[in-house]
Amino acid sequence: MRTVISSLVGAALLAAFAAVGSGLISGVYEQTKEPIAAAERAAEARQLLEIFPTATHDNQLIDDTFALPADGPLLTLREESSGYRARKDGDVTGVILPATARDGYSGDIRLLVGVDRSGSIAGVRVLSHRETPGLGDKVDLKKSPWILSFDAKNLENPTLEGWAVTKDGGEFDAFTGATVTPRAVVSAVKSALEYAQTHKQNLFELVEEDAS
Ligand SMILES: Cc1cc2nc3c(=O)[nH]c(=O)nc-3n(C[C@H](O)[C@H](O)[C@H](O)COP(=O)(O)O)c2cc1C
Repeated sequence: MRTVISSLVGAALLAAFAAVGSGLISGVYEQTKEPIAAAERAAEARQLLEIFPTATHDNQLIDDTFALPADGPLLTLREESSGYRARKDGDVTGVILPATARDGYSGDIRLLVGVDRSGSIAGVRVLSHRETPGLGDKVDLKKSPWILSFDAKNLENPTLEGWAVTKDGGEFDAFTGATVTPRAVVSAVKSALEYAQTHKQNLFELVEEDAS
């Protein structure tokens, strides 16, 4: 009888701890989700402004969005994502396209690719990656200036063959001992330029319509 009672007490205590524990976790989640979302939005806004600095537009980039579908052939996004427009005096001066390189060394590399009206790169930034520290992570501007080598490039400059890492006969440097990561990023940026070229009208002119 005593054993049954002590088992019941044990079970009740366990249930009580579990209830308190999960209550605490959901309380912390509720308290932090808004500040986390606000911090993520601020970080995103900063990245957008790195690509199109304030002088290049008079709208709020982060609020001027359009939807891009998941699994399209060129941007290869995992989920529906937002693109952004930069405008000056109402005219679209550039767009920022999200793109995912699915062939990084350690999985997806998520990028933002800024393209101006003439089809040239305004800037590229890595949003997230899991590449190896000291090797593939040099695609991140915090680690090296490599990503700036895309600035002002377009589909004519370099030529299509030039849109590859030097090891593959192209113009973009690879890192010592790490070719896979830059190869994936070069290919994703080129594809994003191709997307911008294919959808030029929707992106830059028919601004009321969804570019997807
Ligand atoms: C533990 C480990 C981590 C690696 N991480 C990366 C990486 O993040 N990015 C990368 O490009 N290569 C990485 N490499 C090297 C690649 O395996 C590959 O050798 C290199 O990218 C050259 O590729 P290539 O032969 O196609 O030119 C890593 C290798 C090892 C052993």
